[in-house]
Amino acid sequence: MAILLPGGAGYIGSHTAVELLNSGKDIIIVDNFSNSKPEVLDKIKKITGKDFKFYELDYLDKEKIEKVFEENKIDAVLNFAGFKAVGESVQKPLEYYHNNITGCLILLETMKKYNVKKFIFSSSATVYGEPEKIPITEDCKTGGTTNPYGTSKLFIEQILKDLYKSDNTWDICILRYFNPVGAHESGLIGEEPKGIPNNLMPYIARVAAGTLKELSVFGNDYDTPDGTGVRDYIHVVDLAKGHVCALNKLDKEEKGLFIYNLGTGKGYSVLDMVKAFESATGKKVPYKIAPRRAGDIATCYADPKKAKEELGWEATKTLEDMCKDSWNYIVKNS
Ligand code: UFG
Repeated sequence: MAILLPGGAGYIGSHTAVELLNSGKDIIIVDNFSNSKPEVLDKIKKITGKDFKFYELDYLDKEKIEKVFEENKIDAVLNFAGFKAVGESVQKPLEYYHNNITGCLILLETMKKYNVKKFIFSSSATVYGEPEKIPITEDCKTGGTTNPYGTSKLFIEQILKDLYKSDNTWDICILRYFNPVGAHESGLIGEEPKGIPNNLMPYIARVAAGTLKELSVFGNDYDTPDGTGVRDYIHVVDLAKGHVCALNKLDKEEKGLFIYNLGTGKGYSVLDMVKAFESATGKKVPYKIAPRRAGDIATCYADPKKAKEELGWEATKTLEDMCKDSWNYIVKNS
């Protein structure tokens, strides 16, 4: 029985593929390389010393997805496919809703047809909108997302809840990621944003590398210790391991729909990140204070207790690991 990973060549998918293979699981990756590169597949094999099946296809292509289910015995689906650029989603809402929601519906319909009912969904802390409390627990209210990317995550969560309500033989886990950063310690796989990065850590890394001139710090008048935005940065390898624990839970326990925050429980400001990156790498990161970015909130970090208690998972990597591994990836791949 294999685990199907749509979007498995992407940033989080590839790191999860490594952890699944390392834990002895059989995987199948499907990807259309819309935001990833074919070389990643060989790199996953190199890191793990293990082989796996791969299909190059768009997960919106229902016929091709069905063929994958026809040809293989699939036990569970971990969906990493989908568009994820917040700013772009504001410009292209139809493309984002179509890709993220229709793609997910096609997967779920095909799973239903082939009686595969274990599903892990990559959601995001963005579903909490302006959080009602900090640290954020899974029972905090959701909604108030400020862009189509975030709203697509919220809608898919609702679809999954409705699906489970209609048929409680499904086994579903919604993982709400906080801010994934870093790269595999080998330096072989990591984050490769197209064009100028939107997210803080890849931007900082490119400023340190000299490919971008300086960081714009979006606002220093938030109600936070140093006035800059506070987030819960989590090492992508810790995040990947969270998926293995979630899958183990779906394998073991009674059926259900489970929701977990995957974060560290620690908040760091933009300026904390600049300092941590400088001291982990010895590189300077020049910055200037710029106006706030529309849609940003002051503070967002997880209460990760539920995942610890129920999945036996907790993040172990430090901010220094996150910075060092991001830098190592840049150095090895430029
Ligand atoms: N920031 C800057 N300058 C930059 C980029 C970011 O100051 O050039 C600041 C932001 O204002 C924010 C912090 O750095 O305070 C983190 O910003 P990111 O863009 O890295 O991350 P966000 O928290 O805005 O969003 C991330 C993911 C989303 C996800 C969300 C979940 O990008 O996909 O976390 O809360 F939905």
